[in-house]
Amino acid sequence: MSDIKMTTGINVKGIGKCLPEMIAANEDFAKIVDTSDEWITQRTGIKTRHISNGEPNYYLGARAAEMAIADADIQPSDIDLIIVATCTPDFYTPSESCLIQREIGASGSMAIDINCACTGFDYGLDMAKRYLQSDDDVHTVLLVAAEELSKFVDYTDRSSCILFGDGAAAFVLEKRENTLYSSYLGADGTGASFLAARALRSENVFRNNKEEFDMNMPQLKEHFFTQEGKEVYKFATKALPNAVLKACEKAGISPDELDAIVPHQANVRIIETAAKNLGVSMDKMVVYIDRYGNTSSASIPIAFCDAVAEGRIKRGDKICLVGFGGGLTYAAVIFEY
Ligand code: COA
Repeated sequence: MSDIKMTTGINVKGIGKCLPEMIAANEDFAKIVDTSDEWITQRTGIKTRHISNGEPNYYLGARAAEMAIADADIQPSDIDLIIVATCTPDFYTPSESCLIQREIGASGSMAIDINCACTGFDYGLDMAKRYLQSDDDVHTVLLVAAEELSKFVDYTDRSSCILFGDGAAAFVLEKRENTLYSSYLGADGTGASFLAARALRSENVFRNNKEEFDMNMPQLKEHFFTQEGKEVYKFATKALPNAVLKACEKAGISPDELDAIVPHQANVRIIETAAKNLGVSMDKMVVYIDRYGNTSSASIPIAFCDAVAEGRIKRGDKICLVGFGGGLTYAAVIFEY
């Protein structure tokens, strides 16, 4: 018998997604690195991913936002706050959220970017919930996750380049009283060097030392992304079930009472191990990694959109969105759709 705690939470009023049109299949990767469809499928579950053919990241985010706004049946001018989760922004400044605001014509709203790598959508959702709960000026939040991993993936590194894709998704959120909601968010900076990318120059005209300070981080090849795949794998298989369990505990619900768990889509084997550790069947796990690969913070809401479109997630369902990624970061959010 469950003892679900009712609290102030969120109403997901509208959802939307946008993927770039260009698709790269495993066979396309076999032409550029020493790999095969068989290896990628067996070790990751990925078959295809969408890759930007020049569309900027904010373009994908804006199209996803417009779809979510139409789905919510509101006007852009109704939005009080735009939060954009991204670790691959088009510019350092202006922010992605300001660019998306300009594109969709929601001027006047607050706009803020967050970078929690692949955990960004969960962090953004919880941030939105807290704004909605505590600020009388914020009634409608647009939460967007937009990523173009193709910007920093090293396409000569076969162990990482095959994993990532580009894409965006968005939720329109409002406050909801007396509902199911809980969150568990955390980070472990001691794993900072396991997933890293630097797109900023470290030189400046005044600098006279050519040596890097030893920050206990990988020496990065230009701006490219590096990862310690095995370390990330170990971290993810523990962090994912742990975050779900902690969020469940706070909500007074057990994992098998959830209708669907939407995990960050990094590797299907991570998801299978996590399901086993949680004692839930894979039917409960929403997995579309075969279509999109790892789109970082966008992977959870993109999978959510597909699950809704295909009737796997319905209104009233108890949902857990669970992410993990660079930082290292991890988070789970439970709510009623
Ligand atoms: N194609 C063919 N062979 C490949 C390959 C590829 N794309 N990538 C790696 N290999 C090779 C390795 O070189 C290694 O060869 P060796 O035994 O001759 O040295 C072999 O396959 C096994 O490599 P290993 O690293 O043990 O593979 P793995 O089963 O651990 O899979 C990852 C590698 C990267 C797919 C896996 O570790 C992973 O998914 N880690 C988590 C990454 C992640 O989720 N990152 C984002 C987090 S948000």
